[in-house]
Amino acid sequence: MRGKFITLEGTEGVGKTTNMAFIQQWLTDQCIDFVTTREPGGTPLAEDIRHLLLTHRDEAVDETAELLLMFAARSQHIAQVIEPALAAGKWVLCDRFTDATYAYQGGGRGQSTEHIAQLEQLVQGDLRPDLTLLLDLPVDVGLQRARKRSDPDRFEAERQQFFTRVRDAYLERARQQPKRCQVVDASLPLEQVQGQIDTALQQFIAEANHD
Ligand code: TMP
Repeated sequence: MRGKFITLEGTEGVGKTTNMAFIQQWLTDQCIDFVTTREPGGTPLAEDIRHLLLTHRDEAVDETAELLLMFAARSQHIAQVIEPALAAGKWVLCDRFTDATYAYQGGGRGQSTEHIAQLEQLVQGDLRPDLTLLLDLPVDVGLQRARKRSDPDRFEAERQQFFTRVRDAYLERARQQPKRCQVVDASLPLEQVQGQIDTALQQFIAEANHD
């Protein structure tokens, strides 16, 4: 049986790393065979593209070039990692996927949603996440946390208004696709955040077993 594809999304500083580890432990406890990966990245070539995307540079980065690089990395990642794993019956847990493109390149940069949808179709065909957990947090709280961690990369260095548009675009996607995309209130204490994730995963498994 084909594996399930789960993605984790959110703006900067929402607690993705901690909650990725929680989900990994959760899947392990359920004896589910899974691979963990991330975007942009997940293969040597796609990680090289990630480096190109996150590095500060003197020239202005053309927004269409940025969008195409995201999908170039994704195409390689799907071919090398995601599709083979799903076909082999493994679950795939991915730190960000195409919802991030709708949020960052669409909402943040103002790239056309139609163009993103065309690239999504070209690169992914029918491949879509089965479940997306969207960690949601007020932008100022997340940015404060993220900026304490390390020097900001090219995205993290964006202004607060950029991330407000990113958050709004994520929430809009969740409103449009409420079944696939579960919003988790990441402003609550960690135990309660993970309680929400646990509930969403249990519900997802119950429905998957029912299919
Ligand atoms: P990460 O550091 O959270 O792994 O993500 C790297 C950055 O890349 C993050 O700031 C969001 C950004 N990004 C996009 O802009 N578009 C995308 O499609 C993806 C996957 C990530």
